[in-house]
Amino acid sequence: MPFHRDRIYPHLVNWLGNPKPIREVRERIIPWAQGTVLEIGVGSGANFIHYVPAKVSKLYALEPNPGMIRLAERERRRTALNVEFIDLPGERIPLADGAVDTVVSTFTLCTIPDVVEAIRGIARVLKPDGKLIFYELGLAPDPRVRRWQARLESLHHWLFQGLYLTRDIPALIEQGGFRVEQMETGYLAQFPKSSSYCWWGIAVPRALAPLSPRERGRG
Ligand SMILES: C[S@@+](CC[C@H](N)C(=O)[O-])C[C@H]1O[C@@H](n2cnc3c(N)ncnc32)[C@H](O)[C@@H]1O
Repeated sequence: MPFHRDRIYPHLVNWLGNPKPIREVRERIIPWAQGTVLEIGVGSGANFIHYVPAKVSKLYALEPNPGMIRLAERERRRTALNVEFIDLPGERIPLADGAVDTVVSTFTLCTIPDVVEAIRGIARVLKPDGKLIFYELGLAPDPRVRRWQARLESLHHWLFQGLYLTRDIPALIEQGGFRVEQMETGYLAQFPKSSSYCWWGIAVPRALAPLSPRERGRG
């Protein structure tokens, strides 16, 4: 439903996505970004204000939803950041391999449809010594909360344009080619536990396995 996607969903995310406990974690982790930065799914631009402009030479703001970009433009005007909005043509990040120092994802890996493929795309555009700063919600450790997450998932999936409550995001990050280097977890915000279990931290690209003698012999 384009009307919901473009007109309602952006305001829902803007309204519900930044209560104090969530904002406090953004304030702590977004300043870790440095150099050329790619933020995937910037939404209404809730993170922009937390970047340190002196550390960030360029911010590529990837966002496929035009309704979100309209809101994010307003946030951009509140900062001194050098921001370029980019789209996602053919589900491929339109940046060269190894082009960025930091990728930021907040509440986006819980929404992207083919998430492991998307994480591989993030690994592709990161420099080998780059880092992924993540802050995501998903599968709670408590079995009772998990049962509620399973019951409520389809409602959230509709209301929040593809949001999953039952993804184990750290496991998916590792499947996509990263090693989680540091992480904290907790139930945040004043929402029910089923929609407020979060992880936040840093993941780094796993070193490529050395080539076998047979692979070294090719080409
Ligand atoms: C729940 S919102 C989070 C917005 C913002 N990152 C925040 O922290 O408030 C998820 C965002 O991911 C975007 N999104 C959806 N599919 C995407 C994709 N394949 N690649 C990048 N972003 C995507 C949505 O348009 C939306 O803005």
